[in-house]
Amino acid sequence: MSFVTIENVSKTFLTKAKKRVPAIASASLVVERNEFVCIVGPSGGGKSTLLNIVAGFERPTRGRVLVHGEVVTGPSSRRIMVFQEFALFPWLSVRENVEFGLDMKSIGRAERRERAKHYIALVGLERFADSFPSELSGGMRQRVAIARALAVQPEILLMDEPFGALDAYTRDNMQQELLRIWEAERKTVLFVTHSVEEAVTLADTVVVMAGRPGTVRNIVRIDLERPRANTEHRFVEIKAEIQEYVRIASGGNLSELESLPDTSESSVDSVT
Ligand SMILES: Nc1ncnc2c1ncn2[C@@H]1O[C@H](COP(=O)(O)OP(=O)(O)O)[C@@H](O)[C@H]1O
Ligand SMILES: [Mg+2]
Repeated sequence: MSFVTIENVSKTFLTKAKKRVPAIASASLVVERNEFVCIVGPSGGGKSTLLNIVAGFERPTRGRVLVHGEVVTGPSSRRIMVFQEFALFPWLSVRENVEFGLDMKSIGRAERRERAKHYIALVGLERFADSFPSELSGGMRQRVAIARALAVQPEILLMDEPFGALDAYTRDNMQQELLRIWEAERKTVLFVTHSVEEAVTLADTVVVMAGRPGTVRNIVRIDLERPRANTEHRFVEIKAEIQEYVRIASGGNLSELESLPDTSESSVDSVT
């Protein structure tokens, strides 16, 4: 049985002015346990909405999401969203930020300490456990956000352009870190990115979503060994293939393509 099944999911928002905004039309996707899936595509294609539905923050208008064969009806600590680094509490230390999510799970103090320690070490921040977010670089803050999500020990990590605000160098580092953590912790990951290069670097499977309302346009398996060099012949080929899918999905609209940068200068979508 597949691990996550997204079955004919549609989502239409009703705005305060009672206007109907179709965001997703009949999207289907199957994700295996421990699979790393990247979702790419132009803005407005329903990527964030789909992630929010898998998280249980939004209910689909039609269709359903199943995890282990169980219908998702609301948020769960088994499915955790990693927010951008600015979702950290500035008045809490790194350790307290990581422990924060555990307070709510009514986990004992000793166990909280132990878990925070483990995940802070896993993201390489032992020496900064007592620092505050304002004392850290953007990349370090994003590591804290990842440690906080991992500490809850979810089965599924949902990441919506998590590295979009980082400079290119830090972003490359974070991608390698995330792969190392993913290999160590064996999580199922759904990762939205504007960058096709990032998707080909990370994913087992790249999903192209586009349209208004959004649909799943293409599903591409990436059968390259990791770590992947972006200069490798197959890497370049696969990247070009997916960029072409995105271009077609954008209606061949070049201005849309130009809004798909591979570096830090990318605009960061708000998590809707
Ligand atoms: N809460 C909301 N209320 C109304 N419309 C929304 C809401 N969230 C998203 N939308 C609309 O749904 C569509 C898909 O948005 P989104 O999922 O954010 O796309 P993406 O993440 O691919 O850029 C857009 O047209 C967006 O304006
Ligand atoms: Mg988005």
